[in-house]
Amino acid sequence: MAHRYTSDLTRDDVTPKSLFLNRRQIMAGAGGVLGAGLIGWAARAQDALEPNTLEEITTYNNYYEFGTGKSDPARNAHMLTTSPWSIEIDGMVDNPGTWSFEQVVEGMTMEERIYRFRCVEAWSMVIPWNGFELADLLARVGVQEGARYVAFETALRPEEMPGVRVPVLDWPYREGLRLDEAMHPLTLLATGLYGEDLPNQNGAPIRLVVPWKYGFKSIKSIVRITLTDEEPPTSWNMSQPREYGFYSNVNPEVSHPRWSQASERVIGGGLFASRQPTLMFNGYEDEVASLYEGMDLAEFF
Ligand code: MTE
Repeated sequence: MAHRYTSDLTRDDVTPKSLFLNRRQIMAGAGGVLGAGLIGWAARAQDALEPNTLEEITTYNNYYEFGTGKSDPARNAHMLTTSPWSIEIDGMVDNPGTWSFEQVVEGMTMEERIYRFRCVEAWSMVIPWNGFELADLLARVGVQEGARYVAFETALRPEEMPGVRVPVLDWPYREGLRLDEAMHPLTLLATGLYGEDLPNQNGAPIRLVVPWKYGFKSIKSIVRITLTDEEPPTSWNMSQPREYGFYSNVNPEVSHPRWSQASERVIGGGLFASRQPTLMFNGYEDEVASLYEGMDLAEFF
């Protein structure tokens, strides 16, 4: 598989699941519970870019359609039927229409991308995604001149999604990107992680991954992609416009109105959950800063 834009992370950084487990068990055996926590913290600090375990990635989730608790998606998302699956691609494209999941992925260059993932709630993980560049799909559908944004929608199925019976958000979940953000080679449509099909709780069968933005931009279980010339409405921005902007680039210098974004809690960081400094654009500054030249990053949050 080709590897691009994984920054300082490579396939070699993915500790095989069994090895990683062994190491934790050894740590626990060596120092008892307290020792394991301390050693775990030290190991994390030194080797902070190690991917999280499959267990961590699939049991600590945000997917409000299945409940607002972190363990609700793992418990409830099995109810989602992910096959057959189709995606409507419409708006300012040359080839609008309804595409099956199989048609969408056909011919796409599948890659593994090991990305940092930073939630706006100030926790983070490192996730080995499998997927393809959104730009490749957009090239295939033919973006028309004048299109400036891409809008995305998640499935809305009250009979399969217990969380949407509660009006936490104005369903369906909606997100959007500026066209140049969508075309950026870091922007991925993920269909798997750790080499397996995407688990339902992580947004099966296909979800967006935009690693330099807060996690809520990375919309799950996509059923619609629309090219448009206007900034599309997005769920968290509609719900709380003063707290969640359209851009939502990771920025340690711009606080959320209710908490600082300067540091993050590393999921799986041991008994004393370790914190690490949050990086500008989540560590992808070299790749993406030029997209925002001339913009006031505090204003366009
Ligand atoms: N997409 C949908 N449809 N519904 C959601 O509730 N939560 C977002 C994002 N995409 C969410 C969503 C948030 S807040 C985060 S942090 C990430 O998904 C979490 O992705 P993960 O559970 O795979 O780590």
